[in-house]
Amino acid sequence: MTVSLIPLDALRRGDQLAGRVALVTGGGGEIGGAIAAQFAVQGAAVVVADLRPGAAANIVAAIESVGGRAVAVVCDVSAPDDARNAVAAAVAAFGKLTTLVNTAATPVPDGTVETTSFEDWERTLRVNLTGAFAMCKYAVPEMRACGGGVIVNLASQLGQIGVPGRVHYSTSKAALIQFTKCVAGDHARDNIRVNSLSPGSINTAASSRRYGGRAESDRIRGPWHLLGRKGRVEEIAAAALFLASDDSSFMTGADLLVDGGYLAFKGTLDTMG
Ligand SMILES: NC(=O)c1ccc[n+]([C@@H]2O[C@H](COP(=O)([O-])OP(=O)(O)OC[C@H]3O[C@@H](n4cnc5c(N)ncnc54)[C@H](O)[C@@H]3O)[C@@H](O)[C@H]2O)c1
Repeated sequence: MTVSLIPLDALRRGDQLAGRVALVTGGGGEIGGAIAAQFAVQGAAVVVADLRPGAAANIVAAIESVGGRAVAVVCDVSAPDDARNAVAAAVAAFGKLTTLVNTAATPVPDGTVETTSFEDWERTLRVNLTGAFAMCKYAVPEMRACGGGVIVNLASQLGQIGVPGRVHYSTSKAALIQFTKCVAGDHARDNIRVNSLSPGSINTAASSRRYGGRAESDRIRGPWHLLGRKGRVEEIAAAALFLASDDSSFMTGADLLVDGGYLAFKGTLDTMG
């Protein structure tokens, strides 16, 4: 079954997150929604936090349709009061907060330093980076109060290389990877593990729009990956589950690259000898 673009049938069922309470920002989006649903079908109670109320409500409905527990919270992660309220809403709904996934990212037009406006530059950093800072700021005390927790920050393979025309986005994701290491160091003694997750190009509506749709995007962007295709949201949700669960109990301060081989070579498959 597919509800709101979330491929529920492709998710891994189990109880790896039984007893956990997870807050997913940008949870109304395609990757965030898949992560929220994946966590729910592994036993977590989930708070789906998003700027768009309808999108968050759709993901909650999808989760409930398969017997999961979830609530929607309207939240602009770049507004400190909203970030604090989202964490409070998780505790009010489910009694604690053990798991935070920072997925929210803002769309901005491509640009260089010359063509990007100050507003777009600042909005990108405010949502993609300061948003994660705000969420962690309010989530950490709650995690400490329940004996520890896990934070996953959605970065990008484009946070590790220079990318033409995406100076704001790429810079924000590189900073998020560094932010992850710092928070991991600061809160290891609180039993809070913090890792980033860097997807390659994933076949979502948002990432495909720039190429004129999913099919065209797959055709053009697929060969940039060694595996010859773009990724699927459930593949990123599976990686997020790994990072959120005890399967990754010896990982903190790391970046998990799930990019189909994007960073492993320079060029496209059709230019390889
Ligand atoms: N799609 C890809 O190819 C790809 C690749 C690498 C990394 N990523 C990262 O994965 C994450 C999810 O991407 P996606 O493709 O699912 O995008 P998406 O646009 O589907 O989801 C992003 C969600 O964030 C929400 N959002 C935006 N601003 C917000 C704010 N200020 N406060 C709260 N919510 C806000 C949006 O409403 C949306 O639901 C992002 O961090 C993105 O940078 C995506």
